Amino acid sequence: MDLERLLTDRLTPAFAAVAGEPVAPTVRRSPRADFQSDAALALARRLGRPPREIARAVLDHAVLDDVCAVAEVSGPGFVNLTLADGALAGMVAALAGDERLGVPVTGEPETVVVDYSGPNVAKEMHVGHLRSTVIGDAAVRVLGWLGHRVVRVNHLGDWGTPFGMLIAHLVDLGEAEAAQELSIGDLDGFYRAARSKFDADPAFRERARQRVVALQGGDPETRRLWRLLVGQSQRYFLTVYELLDVTLTGEDFRGESAYNDRLGAVVTDLDRLGLLTDSAGATCVFPPGFVGRDGVGLPLIVRKGDGGYGYPATDLAALRQRVDELGATRLLYVVGLPQRQHFAMVFAVAGQAGWLRPPVRAEHLGFGSVLGPDGRMLRSRAGGSVKLVDLLTEAVTRATALARTRNPDLDEAAAAEIGRAVGIGAVKYADLATDRTRDYVLDWERMLALDGNTAPYLQYAYTRTRSVLRRAGAVPGAATVVLPGTPAERALAVELLGFAGVVHEVARTAQFHHLAGYLHRLATRFSTFYERCPVLRADGELRASRLLLTDLTGRTLRQGLDLLGIRTLDRM
Ligand code: ARG
Repeated sequence: MDLERLLTDRLTPAFAAVAGEPVAPTVRRSPRADFQSDAALALARRLGRPPREIARAVLDHAVLDDVCAVAEVSGPGFVNLTLADGALAGMVAALAGDERLGVPVTGEPETVVVDYSGPNVAKEMHVGHLRSTVIGDAAVRVLGWLGHRVVRVNHLGDWGTPFGMLIAHLVDLGEAEAAQELSIGDLDGFYRAARSKFDADPAFRERARQRVVALQGGDPETRRLWRLLVGQSQRYFLTVYELLDVTLTGEDFRGESAYNDRLGAVVTDLDRLGLLTDSAGATCVFPPGFVGRDGVGLPLIVRKGDGGYGYPATDLAALRQRVDELGATRLLYVVGLPQRQHFAMVFAVAGQAGWLRPPVRAEHLGFGSVLGPDGRMLRSRAGGSVKLVDLLTEAVTRATALARTRNPDLDEAAAAEIGRAVGIGAVKYADLATDRTRDYVLDWERMLALDGNTAPYLQYAYTRTRSVLRRAGAVPGAATVVLPGTPAERALAVELLGFAGVVHEVARTAQFHHLAGYLHRLATRFSTFYERCPVLRADGELRASRLLLTDLTGRTLRQGLDLLGIRTLDRM
C-alpha cells in the first residue's frame, strides 16, 4: 500500500466533513513528523475560520488510530502524522512479500501511443533525439509495467522534398558506395554532399526536382532507391538503439511516409467542417487563441502553395490513425520544446475537427537542450554537432576505464560489462534526473561519479545490497520487521513505502526526475542504514529484519532503475 494514498484516504472524508465540500488533503513527507498536510491553511481563508481550529476538527473526524502513533496539530495549522511502528512494520513486511513491491497492475488499462526518437533518414541523430529516445523509453517502461497497452511509434522523418536530392546523390555515388557510406553511419557526410551539390549545380538541382516528382508519383525505380536510403538509415539507427539499450525495435518504425494516403482526407475533412482558409496560396487552419507577435492569427499549414503536404498535415493524419485505428486514449509526443507550438496547434486543430476529444488526451512531453561543460549548446571539438554514437562510446570507454582503476583485478569481460551498464546508465540518468523541461549539462566527471545524484551511485548501492545478501547466505523468507529500530532503519522503512506513490505519479505526469529523486533518497537512506546498523553481525530477529530491509531496498532500486531503462549489476 502506498502510504501517501493511505493517509490521504483517511483524511479526505474528515476534510470533507469539516469543509462541507471535497478538499484534497495534500499529504507530504515532512521532516517534523513522517507526514504532513497543510490543507487546513488554504481552507481557512475559504471558510473564514482559524486554520488550527480546522486542523483540530479534521483530526477529530479522521480515523487514524490504527496507523498513526501521533496525529496532532502543529504550527499555524498543519496536521502532523507519525506512523505507529507496528503498522509500519506490518506494511513493510507486506511489501516484502509482494513481487510488485506494492505497485498493482492498473485496474483501468488504456492504449497509450508513445511517439519518440523520430530521427530523420540520411541525417545523424543528434542529442535531441537522444533525449527523446531516453525519455520515451522510460515512459514505455513505466506505463507497460503498470499494465497499459503501450504502442511505440518511431515517427521517422522519411519523406519530403530533400529526398529528391538525396536520391539524385545516391545515383551519382552508385548504390554500393552509397550503402557503404550510410552503413558506417556517415549520415551527415552523405547529406552534406547532396546539399552542396544541390546549392552549387543547377543540373543536379533539376535532377533532384525530377526525383521528387517521380517519388511522389510512385515511380518504381525511384521508390526502390528511396527504400534503400530508408533501410540503410534504419539499420544504422537500430545499432544506436542497441548500444543505448532501449526497447525500440525495427517493428516500431512508422515513418511520415506511412501516412501519405491519409493526407488527402485530412484536407477534405477539414474543408467539410469549414475550417480551411487560403493564406498566401497555402491551405491553412487558424486555430483560435494562436496569435503571433504582431497580433495576427497564426496558421497551421495543411497544404503548401505547391500542393504538397508537410509536417503538420502528417501529424494530423497520424493523430487520427492513432485514435481511430490503434484505439489510443492517450497520445504522448516526446519531442524537444522548440516544437511546442507545433504540437499545441496540431492538438487545437484536431480538437476543432472533433478528432481529439475526451477521453482521448494528447500530451507534448517537451524537453530542453543538452549543453556542453561551457554551458553552451553541445558541440563536437570540430564545432559540428556531436555524433550520438561517439558520445555513447565515450561514456562506455570512460566508465570501463574507471571500473578498471577502482578494481584492477577485473577481467576484460567483467570490466566491459560494468563499463557498458554504468556508462550508458550514467547518460540516461543524467537525462532523466533533471526536470525534462530544463537544459542539462553533459559533465562526464559528475555523471560518472560514485557519489551524488548519479546512476553509478544508485547502481553501487544496489551491488551493496547484493553483497550483504550474498554474505548472509540466505534471503529471509517470511521474516518480520523489528521496529522501532534505530532512526536509520525506521527512515529506510518509511522511504520504501513511498515507491508505489512515486510510480503512479510519474505514470501520470511523465516527470521522471521524481522517480530518480526518489531512488536517490532511498539509496541515501540505505547508505546511512548500512553505516549505522550492523546487519550480518546482528542476531536472530533483528538480523532477519535488517536483511529484509536490505533485500527490499535492492529490489526497489533494481525495479526503479529498470523503469528508467538502467541496468543493475551484482558486482561492480
Ligand atoms: N523527425 C522529427 C525531428 O527530428 C521528430 C518527429 C517527432 N514526432 C512527431 N510526431 N512529429 O524533429
